[in-house]
Amino acid sequence: NRKTLLVTRTLPQASQERLDRGLDGVEVIQWKEDRAIPRSEFLKLAKGVDGILCLLTDKIDSELLDAAGPQLKVVSTMSVGFDHVSVKELESRKILLGNTPGVLTDATADTTLLLVLSAGRRLREGVDAVIQGKWGAWSPTWLLGTQLTEKTVGIVGLGRIGVAVAKRLRAFGVEKILYQGTKPKPEAEAEVGGKIEFAELDQLLKESDVICVCCALNDKTQNMFNYETFSKMKRDVVFVNTARGGIVDQSGLIRALKEGKLGSVGLDVTVPEPLPTDSELLQFPNCIVLPHIGSGTMETRTAMSEIAIENALSGLKGEALPHPHNA
Ligand code: GLV
Ligand code: GLV
Repeated sequence: NRKTLLVTRTLPQASQERLDRGLDGVEVIQWKEDRAIPRSEFLKLAKGVDGILCLLTDKIDSELLDAAGPQLKVVSTMSVGFDHVSVKELESRKILLGNTPGVLTDATADTTLLLVLSAGRRLREGVDAVIQGKWGAWSPTWLLGTQLTEKTVGIVGLGRIGVAVAKRLRAFGVEKILYQGTKPKPEAEAEVGGKIEFAELDQLLKESDVICVCCALNDKTQNMFNYETFSKMKRDVVFVNTARGGIVDQSGLIRALKEGKLGSVGLDVTVPEPLPTDSELLQFPNCIVLPHIGSGTMETRTAMSEIAIENALSGLKGEALPHPHNA
């Protein structure tokens, strides 16, 4: 009895070729256009499938699961985050959920540092100035940013990615790391080494020269950063979010930027995505926005799609997933 797997997008080349060669005992149904599958198509194509390999752009909720039907065994998302998936609904229907942690840690931590450095050193203003012919004689006072040497950095979420960010920051001479999360993590602290401590959010906001958001989006972290929290930060803070846009209340961020409460901001994630070009967020020269490319390297995306295929195949066979979401 052949199983069917719905794949909601064209995958990176190596994995796509694998699908095109054919998976043993599995019929693949695939949305191959170069845009996210429209909801109506998703609901239609999901009907009767045994597995779904999806992306973070595809909402998996009760409506979709109803449309798929009771034979659905596994949802495999090609992402580390799974805030687009209703985990409770899957659990109550005994559908397995797999994600792709680990392989994107380095790429995402690199992107976080990319934003810390480019926001802190005013990359956008510098590049714009060169392009617009505003580059005058070398100036001792022009485009001065802030550097990481001997600074205090606050990391929200000391998971795999948070630890990788902390290690990179050490190489740049950061003195002290404060972190926030559900609980202190002695093992992660030991892995990072040096001065690192679990802190109350208020202390982290007040003392950090740089703040990096590296946590998952959930009920507890939704809008965790808002006008009130931004108001408690240092005036020259570098604030970077490479996790999920929903962790930041964007209207509060825009207000704080307008009022000059933030030194510089670097975002790889926004609400919505894509961010409309008329968003006020794009009007601030001290705010750099990237188009959700945290894990965007050839190596990492290929590793992610391979894991997503492995998770899907295991689930279709009724086996435990190699990378279950709750590992
Ligand atoms: C990217 O944002 C991911 O969750 O993999
Ligand atoms: C989870 O998001 C991680 O840090 O890998």
